[in-house]
Amino acid sequence: MMANSGTACPIIGFGAWAPDVGEERTTRAKQWLGSALKIGYRHIDTAYAYGTEKAVGDAIRESGIERENIFVVSKLPPHHHGRVAESLQETLDNLGFEWLDMYLMHWPIAAPYEGDDTGTPKALPTINDTWEQMEQCLQTGKCKAIGVSNCSIKMLEQLLKTVKVKPAQNQVEMHPYLAQNDLLAFCRERDIAVVAYTPSGMCSRVKKHPPTILSLRTTGTNVVRNDPVIVELAAKYNVTPTQIILAWHLSREVVVIPKSTNEGRQKENFNLPTLKAEDIKKIDGLDRGQRICNKPDENGLVWGMSAEQLGWV
Ligand SMILES: NC(=O)c1ccc[n+]([C@@H]2O[C@H](COP(=O)([O-])OP(=O)(O)OC[C@H]3O[C@@H](n4cnc5c(N)ncnc54)[C@H](OP(=O)(O)O)[C@@H]3O)[C@@H](O)[C@H]2O)c1
Repeated sequence: MMANSGTACPIIGFGAWAPDVGEERTTRAKQWLGSALKIGYRHIDTAYAYGTEKAVGDAIRESGIERENIFVVSKLPPHHHGRVAESLQETLDNLGFEWLDMYLMHWPIAAPYEGDDTGTPKALPTINDTWEQMEQCLQTGKCKAIGVSNCSIKMLEQLLKTVKVKPAQNQVEMHPYLAQNDLLAFCRERDIAVVAYTPSGMCSRVKKHPPTILSLRTTGTNVVRNDPVIVELAAKYNVTPTQIILAWHLSREVVVIPKSTNEGRQKENFNLPTLKAEDIKKIDGLDRGQRICNKPDENGLVWGMSAEQLGWV
């Protein structure tokens, strides 16, 4: 898929989130990233906040694949909005690369930078300010394209008022239970590619940790894959439920970034059937606006912002 920046982004990418336990973000991550690259994935999605940037860089170097042939995405964390150029350089140093193919604002939310020990509280930048800094990064060649993540129509409208360069991508939670049709149409009309995270409807974080550890992401389970419509279609096409769900995204021309630590499942997610129109329609009918990965906590907040502020309701 071609981003509005002119950079080609493979429509099936690979997610690199990992839990912050043991060697999950280091040795283990390098291992499963290496196997994904061997299978053929050429689009890797990481973030400063995931702590896997070094593993991504090492896995790519060890794969022997030319850097030019892999689309590498990383993200600016909320607490770095006031220091975009420095944060991008830290990301590049972690990866050991000279440039990113796509640099995303991870959340349309600015948080205080903890490394600033002057004790003087500073006003937090708006997303428009942060975007301006990201546009400046484009000039340096350290990223080939810039985009956003977790942006609703409301947030995009606010951002688009001042941009010189439009976001090339918006990476959001999307799966059959959260089809986000209005957001998809809004982005499409403005030539902003949509990338689905938690594309299978099962967030890695929910699976790996009990809800008590991560109160923000609570009850999400494997509900989408167990939906009778998905299960029936999996039998019809002789594939797995996850393959049906990922194929549905491709039918909508949405980029997917599934993550699996398992070689067999990585292969599954990379080999998808083409769905018939009537089956796509059945999956379209499952939408219920249900967030599974990032949703408001018991105080109604998502990373400190209300669903109203984020434009989610
Ligand atoms: N921008 C953001 O704010 C944001 C938020 C969340 C995620 N992301 C990105 O999106 C990527 C993917 O999202 P995600 O990890 O939440 O969801 P996902 O890729 O839809 O699902 C991952 C979970 O499903 C399992 N899985 C994967 N393929 C499977 C298959 N074929 N059959 C059965 N189980 C399978 C994985 O376990 P195994 O490893 O055991 O296979 C893992 O627990 C992340 O890695 C990250 O890069 C971005």
